[in-house]
Amino acid sequence: MKDFLLFSGVSNRPLAEKVAKLLGVSLGKVDLTRFADGELRPWIQEDVRDKTVFVIESLSFPMDEHIMEMSLMGDAIRRGAPKTMIAVIPYLGYSRQDKQHRVGEPVSARVIAKFLEVSRYREVIIVELHNEAIVGFFQIPVIHISTLPLFAEHLRSMKISDGVVVSPDVGGVKRARNLAYMLDLPMVVMEKKRFLDRSDTTESFQIIGDVTGKTAIIIDDVISTGGTITHSVRSLSEAGASKIIVCAAHGIFAADAIGQLRGSNVEKIIITDTIVVSREKQLPQLATLSVAPLLANAIGTILR
Ligand code: R5P
Repeated sequence: MKDFLLFSGVSNRPLAEKVAKLLGVSLGKVDLTRFADGELRPWIQEDVRDKTVFVIESLSFPMDEHIMEMSLMGDAIRRGAPKTMIAVIPYLGYSRQDKQHRVGEPVSARVIAKFLEVSRYREVIIVELHNEAIVGFFQIPVIHISTLPLFAEHLRSMKISDGVVVSPDVGGVKRARNLAYMLDLPMVVMEKKRFLDRSDTTESFQIIGDVTGKTAIIIDDVISTGGTITHSVRSLSEAGASKIIVCAAHGIFAADAIGQLRGSNVEKIIITDTIVVSREKQLPQLATLSVAPLLANAIGTILR
C-alpha cells in the first residue's frame, strides 16, 4: 500500500479508530484546540508531504462545527504539500436538503459539496446518501458506499421467514427494492406526507401492498425525530403486520426520537455506527452494525 495518513475529527473517533485498526495504522496526530473566543485552531502534527491523506469526519450534530473542522483541517493539511487529500464522510449532514423544497430555501447539500471542494479535498468517500443524485453535486470523484449489504447480512442471520421490505416513503423505493432483491422478499411502499410549514413533521397515511401477518422490515436512510418511523410503525400495525423491524443507516435520534420509539411497537432497530449514539439513547431494541470494514475497504481501493 502507498504511504498514507488517516486523521480524524472529533465527531466519531470510535469509528475512525476502528478503521485505522483495520488498516493497520494509528490515527494521525492533530491538535484540535479552540481560541478563547471559540474559533477552532487545528494543528497537524505529522509530516504530510507527498503522502495520501484521509480525513474522517461525520457531518453530524453539531454539523456546522464539524463542517468547519473538516474545512480547516483540509487547509492545514494542504499547506503541508500532501500528494492528495480525501474526505471520508460516514454521514453527510444537510443531505436531506438536496433540492429547493420551497422557493426561498437553499439547496444545502450542494453547498456542502462545494465547501469540501474549496477546502481542497480531491476525492470523497460517503456512506448511504439520502439521495444518490447528490453525487452529481460534486465535481470531484465520489465513492458512495451502500449499507444495504450490511443490513442484508444481519437480516439473513435473523432467519425471518415471513418478511416484507417496507419503504416508508416514495423517495426510498429504490433502497427498499434493492434490499428486497438481496433478501428475495416482496416489497411494499408507504406514502408519507410532510408538512413543509412545520419542520420535521410527517404523517404516514397509506400503505401500497399487503403486510397482513408479516414481519415488516422498514428500511430508511436516517432516523431523525423518529416521526417517520413511529407513524410507519403505527400504520403497519393497524394494517396487520405481526412484527416490525427498522433498519436505518444513520441514527441521529434528534428531539424526542428516543421517547417516541420507546413507546412504539418496534421489535428491533438496526442502525450503523456512522454517528455516535450516546449511552442514554441506547434503547434495548437497538443493534449497531459497523461500517468500519466498508470504509477500510474503500480506502484500500484508493491506495492500491
Ligand atoms: C426522508 O425523506 C428521510 O428518508 C427520512 O425518512 C426522514 O428524514 C426521517 O426523519 P424523521 O425521523 O425526523 O421522520
